[in-house]
Amino acid sequence: MRRIALAGPTDFEGWRDAARRLARQGVDPAEVVWSVAGESVDLFGAVSSEPTAAPPEEPAFAVPRGFLDLAETAILHADPERFALLYKMLCRFRAVETEAGECFIAWFEPEHHIVEAAAPFFVRRFASMRWSILTPERSVHWDGEVLRFSEGVDRSAAPGEDALEDLWRRYYAAIFNPARLKVQAMMSEMPRKYWRNLPEASLIKPLIDQAERRSAEMVQSAATPENPRPQRPAPASPAEAPAAAGSIEALRDEAAGCRRCPLWASATQTVFGEGPEDAGIVFVGEQPGDQEDLAGRPFVGPAGQVFDAALREAGIDRTRVYVTNAVKHFKFVPRGKRRLHQKPDVADIVACHGWLAQELDLLRPRLVVALGLTAVRSLTGKTMTLASAREQFLTTGGGATLLATIHPSFLLRLPDQNEKAREYARFLDDLKRVAALAQSA
Ligand code: URA
Repeated sequence: MRRIALAGPTDFEGWRDAARRLARQGVDPAEVVWSVAGESVDLFGAVSSEPTAAPPEEPAFAVPRGFLDLAETAILHADPERFALLYKMLCRFRAVETEAGECFIAWFEPEHHIVEAAAPFFVRRFASMRWSILTPERSVHWDGEVLRFSEGVDRSAAPGEDALEDLWRRYYAAIFNPARLKVQAMMSEMPRKYWRNLPEASLIKPLIDQAERRSAEMVQSAATPENPRPQRPAPASPAEAPAAAGSIEALRDEAAGCRRCPLWASATQTVFGEGPEDAGIVFVGEQPGDQEDLAGRPFVGPAGQVFDAALREAGIDRTRVYVTNAVKHFKFVPRGKRRLHQKPDVADIVACHGWLAQELDLLRPRLVVALGLTAVRSLTGKTMTLASAREQFLTTGGGATLLATIHPSFLLRLPDQNEKAREYARFLDDLKRVAALAQSA
């Protein structure tokens, strides 16, 4: 029996070095006892540390980078079995051997006849690996040089369920947060038709079914009798206009449950306007970005930093103005771990217009500044170019003076430094005009 003592419960480097050393020596996972220094060990008593350097004659041992990334995260889990399970997984990379060398085998059940059409993609993507993709209709094999097709096979010919998939299922269940469940977003990223090939698929339905109860329990357990949790307002149906609220605070609460368009489903929260209710100037942007969506506040991300700097230079105190957006949910497309901004279309602007109109009704500012064309569209109901909006003195439906300028993110997208400086100077001029108008009013 080999015993490995790691320096702490999240000692990824210690686990990685020891696992590599053990794998190079061909040590069976069942032969290893993992523990954390200072924590009680196993029934057999004390732990002996292993030497860290591998003898030079041991063969090199490599695993895909993605596995190490997964292991680094999985080690944060509290399950005492995590080190042993990860070592078992690591050994599995060696176990997939054929007479011709290491081979990666995948099982898939496509709905359409796509094996031939999709094969070149996998050749380009995994050119240096040997792999086979087995499907019931047709199979395809790449040996690093030649692509070969063969008959389809039964699922039983593919590697079956094992501890690796079991570990993944446990990990998936542990990281599943019922309070952040977005069923529509999940379905659009991973449509149901692919679920049968996912080890975690068997968990998805029960986890979704339990999500409402589990998140209610989370909320309950956080509340105290002295400080009870406020109830979320009932979601509004898309058809009805927002009920007239008596204050910005009441309007904000109502907008928190807005379901007027589908954007709420993938966003984290409604990002409502903020600022004093007696603000003389209201700035209206387009929609919250990634950081605003997470923070729940408008203009706190990169565009917000440009906006803040320009406001300061123009002599406008951000704490004295009200800042909001034409659209109050983040619209994006997922790309891997990133969420890419998508411009709101007219339907999004129209669906959200009632909130902005009520903000202006309640605030009754003298000046409204549209930052970009989405705001112009929402505030005037008209489509025009920014050049033309910028040169006109417009008015909002409520009679406030409306000035239009660029959206600060426009400056972030300009690649040419001279052009950026020129456009920033124009933006500043617009803001200085706003400051002057506000003072003269
Ligand atoms: N862009 C906007 O239009 N609004 C924000 O709140 C952030 C970025």
